[in-house]
Amino acid sequence: MTKVLHVHASPKREYSASGQMADIFLDEYRKINPAHEIETLSLFESDLPEFGFDQTTAKFAPIFGDQLTQEQEQKWQVILDVISRFDKADKIIVSTPMWNGSIPYKLKHYIDIIVQPLVTFGFNPETGEHFGLLKDRPLQFVLTRSSVPVGDPFDNQLPYLRSIFGFMGILDHRVVVAESTTRPTSEERAQYIAEFSEILKQAAAEF
Ligand SMILES: Cc1cc2nc3c(=O)[nH]c(=O)nc-3n(C[C@H](O)[C@H](O)[C@H](O)COP(=O)(O)O)c2cc1C
Repeated sequence: MTKVLHVHASPKREYSASGQMADIFLDEYRKINPAHEIETLSLFESDLPEFGFDQTTAKFAPIFGDQLTQEQEQKWQVILDVISRFDKADKIIVSTPMWNGSIPYKLKHYIDIIVQPLVTFGFNPETGEHFGLLKDRPLQFVLTRSSVPVGDPFDNQLPYLRSIFGFMGILDHRVVVAESTTRPTSEERAQYIAEFSEILKQAAAEF
């Protein structure tokens, strides 16, 4: 069965603009593909494992030849489990606001967990090149920001997301961006999000 993973990175629950946009996308997707399994990983509501001393030691152990303790092995397995949940998805949606020109720290935390040498990317010492180890698959970005246009030098959200997922081998990117979500009233905010309905439904139909 086709598995869809929705990684959501706003803490704003039902008030999240990126979440509301992802919902429009997913409602349409569900209508078209009722048998597909859709799982949402809300990063602000999930317990991501720490990526500290033991995990960074484990990350480089195969390269440096370090012997891991049993506890480090166990902690590394937790990291591999997060990666496995991600990699099981046939299609991925990442919905996120821009935070300070980039992405919320919880999404960066998630990325720091799933980007691992010999697991999700490889390195050729002869050519000095990195290459992705994950199979390519459709990846829909649903992005919001209050005032930064796509292509602006301050936009480190979309270029970063494209490059880090591409780094792991996921290159089939589709993008919907709401560039100016900050509106004076809740009615105007809702109206602005509603303007993306057709684009999101179309994206869902093509996903
Ligand atoms: C901590 C924080 C930092 C933000 N930084 C930016 C920013 O650098 N540029 C921008 O245009 N909007 C910024 N915003 C606004 C959000 O990107 C915008 O309101 C977005 O639509 C929120 O999406 P959400 O409702 O899904 O969380 C920031 C918001 C927060 C809470």
